[in-house]
Amino acid sequence: MTFMELACNRYSERHFDSRPVEDEKLQKILEAGRIAPTACNYQPQRIYVLKSPDALEKARRTKASLYSCPLVLLVCYDSETVWKNPGDRCYELYNAGEQDASIVAAIMMFEAEDLGIHSLWIRGFDSRSVIDTFELPANHIPVMMLALGYPSEDSRPAHLHAKRKPLDETVIVL
Ligand SMILES: Cc1cc2nc3c(=O)[nH]c(=O)nc-3n(C[C@H](O)[C@H](O)[C@H](O)COP(=O)(O)O)c2cc1C
Repeated sequence: MTFMELACNRYSERHFDSRPVEDEKLQKILEAGRIAPTACNYQPQRIYVLKSPDALEKARRTKASLYSCPLVLLVCYDSETVWKNPGDRCYELYNAGEQDASIVAAIMMFEAEDLGIHSLWIRGFDSRSVIDTFELPANHIPVMMLALGYPSEDSRPAHLHAKRKPLDETVIVL
């Protein structure tokens, strides 16, 4: 399968099967994130693997839309490790943490897809609730959750999946 085929096949999964994700596959997914590029190679990503019933129950308490997924990766960045740009005149000490964490998460998402594991990118949660529930250290800034699992028989793309703007609406050629 080409990367383009993989990218076209992926869609947000909201109908997970209860079958657990095998540890070997989880390790490959985490490894894909490990080799992701990050600003200045500082590798500020901090990934919480939520797979015990207790951890998943806590994740659900944050009101994140996890559906029935058996595994969640909570992707954070370490604000003490992240690259900051002192020379940016729009943002005071711009930091690349959200970008780094998102690149890591995206690469893990596509590795999962390649392994037959479906995913859902989740940001619809209250950061305070995530910080308090998991008692995150103050320097671990939650960016997103990646829900992972096998598709169930009901699995199908939601209507938004088919709605992509044409390139001429999103690409500006100068
Ligand atoms: C930054 C970001 C945040 C998202 N947050 C949520 C979320 O909280 N809950 C949810 O069900 N889907 C969430 N999604 C999934 C998007 O709704 C979905 O990717 C989009 O509608 C396109 O559909 P597709 O992924 O099936 O192609 C999020 C996606 C991104 C990139």
